[in-house]
Amino acid sequence: MAAKGLSKGLTNYGDAGFSLYLRRSFAKSMGYSGEMLARPVVGIADSKSGFNNCHRHFPELIEAVKRGVLAAGGLPIDFPTVSLGEVFLSPTSMMFRNLMSIDVEEMVRAQPMDAVVLIGGCDKTVPAQLMGAASADVPAVQLLAGPMMPTSFRGERLGACTDCRRFWAMHRAGKVDAKGIEEVEGNLATTAGTCAVMGTASTMASIAEALGMALPGSAAIPAVHADRLRAAEASGRRAVELTRSPIKPSEIINEKSVENALRVLLAIGGSTNAIVHLTAIAGRVGVKIDLKRLNVFSDSTPVLVDLKPTGQHYMSDLYAAGGVGAVLRELKPLLHLDCMTVAGETLGERLKHEEGAWVDRTVVRKFDEPLSPQGGLVALFGTLAPNGAILKRSAADPTLFEKEGRAVVFSSLDDLAARVDTPELDIKADDFMVLQNAGPKSGYAMPEAGYLPIPQKLARAGVKDMVRISDARMSGTAYGTIVLHVSPESAIGGPLALVKNGDRIKLSVRDRKIDLLVSDVELQKRKSAWRAPSETPTRGYAKLYMDHVLQAEHGCDFDFLRKA
Ligand code: FES
Repeated sequence: MAAKGLSKGLTNYGDAGFSLYLRRSFAKSMGYSGEMLARPVVGIADSKSGFNNCHRHFPELIEAVKRGVLAAGGLPIDFPTVSLGEVFLSPTSMMFRNLMSIDVEEMVRAQPMDAVVLIGGCDKTVPAQLMGAASADVPAVQLLAGPMMPTSFRGERLGACTDCRRFWAMHRAGKVDAKGIEEVEGNLATTAGTCAVMGTASTMASIAEALGMALPGSAAIPAVHADRLRAAEASGRRAVELTRSPIKPSEIINEKSVENALRVLLAIGGSTNAIVHLTAIAGRVGVKIDLKRLNVFSDSTPVLVDLKPTGQHYMSDLYAAGGVGAVLRELKPLLHLDCMTVAGETLGERLKHEEGAWVDRTVVRKFDEPLSPQGGLVALFGTLAPNGAILKRSAADPTLFEKEGRAVVFSSLDDLAARVDTPELDIKADDFMVLQNAGPKSGYAMPEAGYLPIPQKLARAGVKDMVRISDARMSGTAYGTIVLHVSPESAIGGPLALVKNGDRIKLSVRDRKIDLLVSDVELQKRKSAWRAPSETPTRGYAKLYMDHVLQAEHGCDFDFLRKA
C-alpha cells in the first residue's frame, strides 16, 4: 500500500525507519500529538504576501480551511508559495506565473500531503496553482480569494479595474483633474479580494469552477462574504474526503472539461488572458486548445453575463444572481455533463441538484435571450498573425470590425511612452496603432500593454476607440478594438516585426482575418534586414524564462513543463 500522511515521500537518509522517526520527532517539536500525526495530511498552499492586496484575507481563509480539515479527521498543514500581486511585479506578473507553477508543483510533490487546498485569486495565481496541481497530480481543491466589493462614490459604484481605466482615460482627456483622480484612486479598490469585474481573476475563478477544480458555487462569492469562509471550511472538509477516495486533477482536467471551461469563458465575456492560461493548464495534462476550435465555440456560445467591462454589473452581483452555476445551467445543452468534479459528482449531477434555483435575469440571461448571440472572444489569422491573434469582440466597437487602416508603428513600449502623447505624432482616428516587441520573448514578458492609450490629442478631440494591434496581452478589465497575442511575436521576427509606418492593414472580424497588405517580396527584404531587439539574459530565472517560454498559442508555458 502506498505511504500516506506523514509517512509519504520520506527524506532520503538511506534508512526509511530513521527518516520517519526523525520526521515525526521534528513534527512533534511543533506540538502535534501522536493522534494528529497519524491523520491524513491536507496541505494548504498559501499565496499570501504583503505585496498582494488581493490576498490580504488569506489568514482568515486558512483558519476556516483548517477548521474543515480538522472536523473531517485530517491534519491541516499550511505552507507558503510564491505570490503574484498583479501590480507589484516588474516587468509583469506573467513572467513569474510559470515560476509559481513550478513552486506549487514541486512543493506539493515533495512535501508529505495526501491532498491539497490551493488558495489563490490574483490574476496569475490561480493559473499557476492549477498548472502546478495538474502536473503534481495530487488531489487538489481550488479555493478562490473571491472578488472585492464595489464602493459607492459620489452616487455611482466603483470597482477595480474597469473604472480605474475609465477615470484614467477621462483624466488623460482633461475631464478629471489631478485632485479628482487622487480621490478616485482611494475609492477603486477598498476591500480584500480580486478585481471586482469580469477581469482575469474573476474569469479564472469561473474557469476553475467550470473545470470542476473548485467546489460548486464557490467562484463568485465575494472575498468579504461569510459564505467565502464557509466555502473555505467546505474545501478543507472535501480535501480530507479526497485523501480517502482520491480524485486526481488528471481525472478532472481533460479535453471535455477544458471544452466546458471554454464555453463558460465565452458565455461570461471573460478575459483574453484566460485563453493563454487555460491553454497552459490544459497543456499540463496533454490537452491542446486549437484557436480555430475556439472560433467554432465562439460562434455557438452566447454571452449571458452582464458584467463589466462589457456590461453593467460587478462580480458580487453575479454571486447574488446565482453565480457560475446559473451560467452552467443555461449552457447545459452545450456542456459535457459526464465530467467529474472535485466535489465527487459529475457536472450533470451537480446541475440536476441545482435545477430551479433562483436567478437574477438582469445579470445572467437565459440562453435564448442572451446579451449577444455569439461568444466574447475570437481568434484572427492572416499574414500579420499566421499562428493567431485574439480579439475580445464583446468589449470592442463593432463599427471598427471591417476596416482597413494605415499603420502607425511603435517599436517598443519605451517608444510608445515617449511618443504617444507628443503633438507632432502623425496619427488620425482612422489609423491602426501597432505596438511591436511586447510579446513573451520581448524582454517585457508579454505585459498587459495591448490597451494602447489613445494619443492625447485624439482623446481630447473625443476619440474613444481605435484599432490597436500588438503581441502583448490586455488586462481583462480593459475594453476597446484591440488585437492581442499576435503570433509569432515580433521579438522572434514574426510579421508584426516587419510592419512599417504607412503600411496598410486589413481587419475583418467577420472573416476572422488580420492581414498586412505588403507584398511577399517586400516582406522578404525586410525580414533579411531584421535584427532581434532584446538582449538575451545570461543568468537566473530570466534566462530560464527566455530559453523556454513558448508563444501565446501554447499558453506561454515553458516547453519542458507541458505534458508530451
Ligand atoms: Fe489582483 Fe486585479 S490586482 S485581481
